[in-house]
Amino acid sequence: MKNLKVAFYVTGGIAVYKSVNLMRELIKRGAEVKVAMTTSATEFVTPLTFQVLSKHAVHIDTFSEEDPQYVQHIHLADWADIAIVAPATANTIAKLANGIGDNFVTSALMATTSPIFLVPAMNEHMLEHPATQQNIRTLKSRKAYVMEPDTGFLAEGYSGKGRFPESEMIIEELEGYLLAYKGERPLKGKKIVVTAGGTKERIDPVRFISNDSSGKMGHALADAAWKKGAEVTLITASTLPTRKQIKRVQVDSAKEMYNHVNESFETLDVLIMAAAVSDYAPLNQEEHKMKKKNNVTIELQKNPDILKEMGQKKVNQFLVGFAAETENIEAYALKKLKEKHADLIVANDVGKKDRGFNTNDNEVTIYSNVDQPVTISLTKKDEIAENIIDIVIDRTE
Ligand SMILES: Cc1cc2nc3c(=O)[nH]c(=O)nc-3n(C[C@H](O)[C@H](O)[C@H](O)COP(=O)(O)O)c2cc1C
Repeated sequence: MKNLKVAFYVTGGIAVYKSVNLMRELIKRGAEVKVAMTTSATEFVTPLTFQVLSKHAVHIDTFSEEDPQYVQHIHLADWADIAIVAPATANTIAKLANGIGDNFVTSALMATTSPIFLVPAMNEHMLEHPATQQNIRTLKSRKAYVMEPDTGFLAEGYSGKGRFPESEMIIEELEGYLLAYKGERPLKGKKIVVTAGGTKERIDPVRFISNDSSGKMGHALADAAWKKGAEVTLITASTLPTRKQIKRVQVDSAKEMYNHVNESFETLDVLIMAAAVSDYAPLNQEEHKMKKKNNVTIELQKNPDILKEMGQKKVNQFLVGFAAETENIEAYALKKLKEKHADLIVANDVGKKDRGFNTNDNEVTIYSNVDQPVTISLTKKDEIAENIIDIVIDRTE
């Protein structure tokens, strides 16, 4: 979103107040936003709110041509990298589908050559009306992106489809659309499975053995792979959220994780094992909560070594493993690379407080079976994830 020029068109629905937040979120992410409103939209929220927050005058009247240098609606259309219509009323959608430009918003949109992203929001019956459905189909066929409205409680006091989605959902979808539009999707058509989080090995129904892994690195990797166009499945033991375009498989134990990885492995292109898989699990899982005793001995048995097994099975799959160590990091990483038949091992020091497990930052060194090691200095896990995915792209092209 950084430096993205957004022409933000607001039309007259009850959801206008929500589009204020959407616009703020775009600005927070580095976009420059200029707003135009229909007169109906100004009935719901004043242009002043949008003007103050966007730091630009709001366009409403096509004929208030105060700057003789430009015709304003054409200038806005030409300036923007993307046009966002949020909310998009049934009325404005109908006008766009039929080539009507009878106000500032519709005239500017008629003159727009950049991508158009619409967020329809309206009463369920208005949405379902055959005319609206036909108009949406028409716009889609002209390559406009029309987001699916949410289902839930409507302003009319009953539940139905037509709600303006949460800003975060809109931005997630917008990001994907922009990447697809720019063609920056080198992993398009590739199937990637990422594992994340620390597995939980049950002792009894309320107790388990686990580790400090938060799942942040794995979730960041899934996101970075999705942004580059991959079809991503995230097998996670973490409770962190996932964007809806990523297929999420929630697991608890190493065995469950193994089963899911194993099931999908044959059809995969890339497996990234970022999960901190417990090496051992209790040999016996108590059916009922264990009673207090002075001393308890829990016998542990070895869990499946997922990376190693997949390394033995691999044909063309590209395998990325993680080595979380507190000493002799390089030696352990190189040993793992060889023993597990991995293509990359991302090694990190989990003995330091400011990086590794359960933090937002990390420093890693990436060992490969063909290239020299690459160190990524202490930075956000999102950035590390992007770097790792870039290496995966280079190696799998
Ligand atoms: C209280 C109220 C709420 C409305 N909410 C919506 C809405 O959510 N979606 C919609 O398509 N129209 C809604 N309308 C109807 C539009 O405001 C009306 O169709 C208007 O002509 C749209 O103009 P515009 O597309 O130029 O903004 C609402 C009208 C009122 C009075």
